[in-house]
Amino acid sequence: MTTSGFDIRPTAHPTDPAIREQILGNAGFGRYFTDHMAHIRWTADAGWHGREVRPYGPLTLDPAAAVLHYGQEIFEGVKAYRHADGSVWTFRPEKNAERFRASARRLALPELSDEDFIGSLKALLAQDSAWVPTPRDGEETSLYLRPFMIASETFLGVRPSKEVDYYVIASPAGAYFKGGVKPVSIWLSSNYKRAAPGGTGYAKCGGNYAASLAAQKEAEAHQCDQVAFLDAVENRWIEELGGMNLFFVYKDGRIVTPQLTGTILEGVTRDSILELAREEGLTPEERHISIDEWREGAASGELVEVFACGTAAVVTPVGELVSEDERLRLSGDNGGEYAKRLRTRLLDLQYGRSEDKRGWLTRLA
Ligand code: COI
Repeated sequence: MTTSGFDIRPTAHPTDPAIREQILGNAGFGRYFTDHMAHIRWTADAGWHGREVRPYGPLTLDPAAAVLHYGQEIFEGVKAYRHADGSVWTFRPEKNAERFRASARRLALPELSDEDFIGSLKALLAQDSAWVPTPRDGEETSLYLRPFMIASETFLGVRPSKEVDYYVIASPAGAYFKGGVKPVSIWLSSNYKRAAPGGTGYAKCGGNYAASLAAQKEAEAHQCDQVAFLDAVENRWIEELGGMNLFFVYKDGRIVTPQLTGTILEGVTRDSILELAREEGLTPEERHISIDEWREGAASGELVEVFACGTAAVVTPVGELVSEDERLRLSGDNGGEYAKRLRTRLLDLQYGRSEDKRGWLTRLA
């Protein structure tokens, strides 16, 4: 059996539907996985081949596989949403496919076409669409799809792998943060940097996230949910959080996000918010924003909202910024009014509750 060029090998042990429903009712984030995964193999000689959907399960890797030593790996985050009529859709997958290719180029991995990237999501969903939760009122449940690519050649020399495997796994997801959508607290990292000019900051590679973990541990030690990074050169410009982009809303209607300089992840949610903000009457600006501007705006009341965004986190308000010697709250805090509106606007689009004027949705099942 094939789905758009993918051989289908269905599991002999599908999850009992009653257990699946129980999982979907309380999924959390990234704890449970569906019955299948998609896979495509690449070798330097044969290119991409062996498209298949097979039972979800452990990978067999030689202990000398390149990815285990030098971290030659990239990934993506995409969600599948169930609409009221039961159909399943995803949001701007060609943007993720494009970013995946940019990440691949930076990590010296082979590039995957839109056709294979989106085809793999469709092939997996053809088997596992029952795992896409039906959102109840106001819930943001979805099936989180995690495409990733690893260097699987067995050798210890430092050079690009000549064997690579691409997979897509899927995990039912509720809110990313444990407390749901309530303001999160942010630790301002002074000991660590996430990315430097010429480095891998714009690529979605495991190493960037590994490098954020010591800072994230520091954040948690200070009872903060997430960590914010400043630029590596001047230690002054706000970049992003450990796994989310940042937005700043001003009383006069400007909405500012740090500009893309190669050290920031080009978030698909970030890009979408820049467009949707205009529909809320806001004026988007992509530019450098310094930690002093955050401090001054917080004190003067000009800065009325800060929020984080990403595929996993959607739109999440930031309550306070904490560092060794300060605790920064917005004196002009408007209660996260625009974060709420933009979040609703985005979710309404993704769940098919508003008209998709820009053709941002792709049907998966
Ligand atoms: C996403 O938002 O999809 C990410 O990959 C970020 C990660 C913190 C889950």
